[in-house]
Amino acid sequence: MEKVIVIGAGIMGAALARHFLSPGHPVALIDPADTARAAATKAIGDTPGFVSSPSVDALGPDWQSCGFVIEAVPERLDLKRAVLGELSRHFGPETAIASNTSGLRAADLARDLSHPERFAIAHFFNPADIVPAVELVPAPQTSHETLDRWQALLEGSGKKVARLGADLPGFVANRLQHAMARECFHLIEAGVIDAEGLDTITRYALGVRLALSGPLMQRDLNGIDTHHAIASYLYPDLAADQTPPKLLDDKLAAGELGRKSGKGFYTWDERQERKAKRMQALLPEIIALARRIDMEEE
Ligand SMILES: NC(=O)c1ccc[n+]([C@@H]2O[C@H](COP(=O)([O-])OP(=O)(O)OC[C@H]3O[C@@H](n4cnc5c(N)ncnc54)[C@H](O)[C@@H]3O)[C@@H](O)[C@H]2O)c1
Repeated sequence: MEKVIVIGAGIMGAALARHFLSPGHPVALIDPADTARAAATKAIGDTPGFVSSPSVDALGPDWQSCGFVIEAVPERLDLKRAVLGELSRHFGPETAIASNTSGLRAADLARDLSHPERFAIAHFFNPADIVPAVELVPAPQTSHETLDRWQALLEGSGKKVARLGADLPGFVANRLQHAMARECFHLIEAGVIDAEGLDTITRYALGVRLALSGPLMQRDLNGIDTHHAIASYLYPDLAADQTPPKLLDDKLAAGELGRKSGKGFYTWDERQERKAKRMQALLPEIIALARRIDMEEE
């Protein structure tokens, strides 16, 4: 099993370490913050093959060469470029390097790297040890061999890899998420529906199918001619705002940031907290259903 180094032991880094440990990869988790390392080590438990360290330099001789390194440090271009540059000087060109950025451009991240052909973005979703999809995004210099190596590592550890052909803002998943959210905000602002009604329609109509068919298989099921006819009259009526809506500006100004501040579109009382925890606990069941579609076909 190839060794994997994860840089940053926060929300994503700790889950990435858990993910790669589970099929048996030796994993080193690096973070200068003692508190972050302690919390991650506690969450991961006493797992064979796991080490944590404040820096790559402080790792033992076994770790001076490594197949894969992925960074999950805070989303700041200057910090990520410094970390990636240092990694590329520390490890030879045979080490594949990735960033788990949420949306920084691969071309910008790769700028200070030696051997930039071994770099790609591997965008995981939170919780990274549970949600299967990973978007694999190339920088202009990324080699096919690098993408093949990351894909093999990710698929070998149970992930579903989507390889993008270009480095564009928001990759794919965030573009879809924001396109849908823009329409949601528009409908609420227009007084068509409230947040709860909107979530009910989404969950019990679109949502029940999305994990099983995806939007494009669903278009085939519904008929592309029907979709074309609807698109012809509906597109001109859809939200096309170029800035965040007033609804979000007002929520920000009122300090209504969602769960973290106790109020957002919902009030985060104990009942709402319990519901969110149930939702989180049920994610593996939905994923298992989605996987069954592909397994039965094979
Ligand atoms: N949280 C999410 O839902 C999510 C989802 C997908 C992608 N991401 C991306 O993953 C990355 C990490 O996000 P997070 O939510 O885990 O952040 P986080 O703040 O929870 O963790 C970041 C960790 O990096 C450590 N760190 C800072 N500088 C470092 C350095 N020089 N070397 C090593 N470690 C260092 C910090 O001590 C901290 O523990 C970001 O780029 C983020 O955009 C986050």
